[in-house]
Amino acid sequence: MNGAIVHHGTETPEPPETPYEEVAVTGGAGFVGRHLVTALALLSRKTTVVDHAPLPAALAALPGVRHVHADLRDYGETLLALQNADAVFHLAGNASGTESVADPRRDFQLNALGTCNVGNACLELGVRRLVYLSSAIVYGTPRHSPIREDHPTQPFLPYGASKLSGELTLRSLYATAGLPVVIGRSFVVYGPGEDPRRAGGEVSQFLRWHLNEQPIPVVGDIDRKRRDFIHVEDLCRALITLAARGADGETYNLGTGTAVSMRELADAVGAATGRPALLSADTSSLADSFTLLADVGRLQGLGFAPRVTLADGLTGLAGLLGPFPEVPSARAVFRREAPPRRRLTPAAAGGTREEARTC
Ligand SMILES: NC(=O)c1ccc[n+]([C@@H]2O[C@H](COP(=O)([O-])OP(=O)(O)OC[C@H]3O[C@@H](n4cnc5c(N)ncnc54)[C@H](O)[C@@H]3O)[C@@H](O)[C@H]2O)c1
Repeated sequence: MNGAIVHHGTETPEPPETPYEEVAVTGGAGFVGRHLVTALALLSRKTTVVDHAPLPAALAALPGVRHVHADLRDYGETLLALQNADAVFHLAGNASGTESVADPRRDFQLNALGTCNVGNACLELGVRRLVYLSSAIVYGTPRHSPIREDHPTQPFLPYGASKLSGELTLRSLYATAGLPVVIGRSFVVYGPGEDPRRAGGEVSQFLRWHLNEQPIPVVGDIDRKRRDFIHVEDLCRALITLAARGADGETYNLGTGTAVSMRELADAVGAATGRPALLSADTSSLADSFTLLADVGRLQGLGFAPRVTLADGLTGLAGLLGPFPEVPSARAVFRREAPPRRRLTPAAAGGTREEARTC
């Protein structure tokens, strides 16, 4: 999964050895999870992938990796799945803002309820460290830039609300029962293995359009829309750093501290592929034409620095995608039509209660 990434900067400290013998990665079969499990296997940790999806073949071949099929909406399954872990990386959940708009209840069950179950299970099982992967989405529209961890949290999407709910629940378990949790808020992740039908990150999307020799569609102002892009390998190193050195009950931004505009990203895509990229800007909505940039001072204080430059990340990804990859079909949806008013029959309401019991 490394692609053709060239690591520069030998001055960057090595990721710390995680002191935990047995670790569990919830959502380990997903995009970020697969990279994290691979990184942990390289550190020779016994790793349990807890996921309701099947284990990808590439992970099944790694030494020390096993799979427990569990749905984290079920507390009993969660307890059983995490019972041998010294440390837990909690990544499982819905990662799509668009899907959260379409089905907010499912999003809440996966992210808020699932995280509540993981936190309580970690307490009950005496897990020594829980790392929760949250998202910069919890900040909502930034009031200033760069964003420090004490920036107000006012998410506007159900996804942001459910991720923040997970954070608040875990922090309350830290405050009231000493849950040893560390929270990381990731900015925009990119790298090999993103699903073009679901992933909304601009780096992969831009590359995919360009490798298909098509103009790159962008909604918003191509200069004012700026993002902090972190390569998935750096994100995983940051998560391992949090497990080893993060402070209990603390929150850390996970980004690079560099903002890249959509115009600059297109230029970088052109440079990585040797062919200038064409942008097709749609300025009918400027809703997300702002700078989303992490203040990474707190993360740097743990000795972490990113290693993969955007240029290297793009070159590696372009090599893996090859010519004419599947074009992205994920669309950013911020609103939906209000559902029509309906009257429930007792049978339909019974179905709703049944659904609630399984959560
Ligand atoms: N991808 C990003 O750009 C990004 C950015 C910031 C934060 N995050 C966070 O990182 C985490 C992982 O994101 P991703 O992009 O790898 O998502 P993904 O959809 O690729 O992976 C999520 C995994 O969780 C599993 N899962 C979901 N609900 C589950 C449940 N109830 N029980 C068991 N397994 C369950 C899925 O099967 C899947 O394998 C998410 O929590 C997301 O909020 C992602």
